[in-house]
Amino acid sequence: MVTGGMRHAGIAAVAAFTMAALAACGGGNGDDAGGSGDAGGDGDLTTIGFVAVGPEGAWRNANEQNVQDTFTKEAGFDLKYAPAANLDQKSQIDAFTAFVDEGVDLILLSATEATGWEDSLQRAQEAEIPVILVDRGIEPDDTSLYVTRLAPNNVAVAANIANWLVDNHPEGGEYITIEGPAGVGVVDERNQGFDEVISKHPEWVKVGAQTANWAVDEGKSVTETFLKSNPDLKFVFAQNDEMGLGASEAVLEAGKTVGPDGVLIATIDGTKNAMTALSEGRLSFVAEYNPLFGDQLLDAVKKALAGEDQPSSIEVTSTTFDSPEAAKAALPDRKY
Ligand code: AHR
Repeated sequence: MVTGGMRHAGIAAVAAFTMAALAACGGGNGDDAGGSGDAGGDGDLTTIGFVAVGPEGAWRNANEQNVQDTFTKEAGFDLKYAPAANLDQKSQIDAFTAFVDEGVDLILLSATEATGWEDSLQRAQEAEIPVILVDRGIEPDDTSLYVTRLAPNNVAVAANIANWLVDNHPEGGEYITIEGPAGVGVVDERNQGFDEVISKHPEWVKVGAQTANWAVDEGKSVTETFLKSNPDLKFVFAQNDEMGLGASEAVLEAGKTVGPDGVLIATIDGTKNAMTALSEGRLSFVAEYNPLFGDQLLDAVKKALAGEDQPSSIEVTSTTFDSPEAAKAALPDRKY
């Protein structure tokens, strides 16, 4: 069984062979990766199996398109994109297993569910296929089972929202959290970051939390329900933009305003739709969760194939937007 420290030795052997194949194929200027192969054919390419989430909203589309735009044939890769069927984990595990059996050079994994990956990751390790986690973490977080995870820091992103709230709205009041789907790792991380800050501020009282599955319509219906049961609601923490945009519709349709005199709404992602809503006063605060980290991922993939040591997590930088002016300034160059 290949474990932690030895992890790199096995992979290094494969990578040495890959890099030799790369050299033999006249590539290897560091820009393209090259596979195990027979000069001239697709065999030259480094094969990457991307066990992806698939259609799930603006953020996901941006992230997975960015990965596909990065690992191109021109860059020396044969990226095999395997989106989950209806977010179903079994379809992801089946795709993962197929990639291991096929003997791809490396696997990228964005898990729809945080738990249930031990067996698959161990099989990849036994096959000496490096695995890199994209955005989503696994639970339990056994870092000996994967090379590294690339993602913005969910705990810090959510803490930014709580800090903005308590710093700018000491008046306090009732609030709700609209969560992503149960079982998704980032949901717990975002709750952790937000709760660690808000728990020190008794002026803000949590009156409920419910999942809305990253969706606008469910974000709207969840908020409508809470506005009926809690007419004095003052703040909505929406764990992604789509759910926050739904909450905004509910607040406005209830004849209230979005803001300190009505209901404040903060979201995570930073997509164009949310930035537009913030610029028009239909949201109060947007914490970016940057999906465009293909370059960092390419660097991590090359290091993994070369058997180089890497930290078990690589943080993707993200920023925040706290006013219509800030959103207006950012919108012209917004790529997602
Ligand atoms: O895992 C990241 C989350 O997944 C995004 O915040 C959300 O929009 C997406 O669906």
